[in-house]
Amino acid sequence: MDIFEAFQKRHSYRGPFTDSPVHTDDLKRIVSAGLAAPSGCNAQTTEFVIIDDEAIVGQINRMHESNIAMQQGKAYIACVLDKEPKAVYEGLSFAVEDCAAAVENMLLAITALGYASVWVDGWLRKEGRAADIAKMLSVPDTKTIRIILPIGVPAEQRKQPDKKPLEERAFFNKYK
Ligand SMILES: Cc1cc2nc3c(=O)[nH]c(=O)nc-3n(C[C@H](O)[C@H](O)[C@H](O)COP(=O)(O)O)c2cc1C
Repeated sequence: MDIFEAFQKRHSYRGPFTDSPVHTDDLKRIVSAGLAAPSGCNAQTTEFVIIDDEAIVGQINRMHESNIAMQQGKAYIACVLDKEPKAVYEGLSFAVEDCAAAVENMLLAITALGYASVWVDGWLRKEGRAADIAKMLSVPDTKTIRIILPIGVPAEQRKQPDKKPLEERAFFNKYK
């Protein structure tokens, strides 16, 4: 799939997945797309836990109250960051931005490979859920899971919501 097609086809999928598995090679390709993302000072701060173990997948499936993709994920990728990320440039850390860049690359790869996912972030940061999943994955206390992606083959066709037109959000040479 052409990258520009992937930009348009990617959408936050919260619907059901088919029974098809997510192949290990595809999981590696998806995470490789994340590894290829830019990072502040090339510090490459985000680490990834690929979750395809049936028992752990089952435990995570049971956690979300409403997001069907989270309830039916066939595999997950958890993005791991230091809780107190080191400064890499003049006292600044870019760990969250690094993670976001990796996640967008992975979402595009997921789309290009015919799977679907959704960027799950806010939900993880409430009610100790990130810590609960971190425990399941033996992530040390000094680190946190900032974003998790459920992955599967979508059982329903959905699409990206409309975005505001270019003229409304982008300007040549002068703001508005
Ligand atoms: C920083 C960030 C946090 C997000 N957190 C969540 C989340 O916790 N749960 C969720 O279902 N979607 C989450 N999303 C997905 C957004 O809701 C989604 O991108 C937005 O509604 C636009 O839809 P689209 O991704 O289909 O274009 C998040 C997206 C971003 C960029």
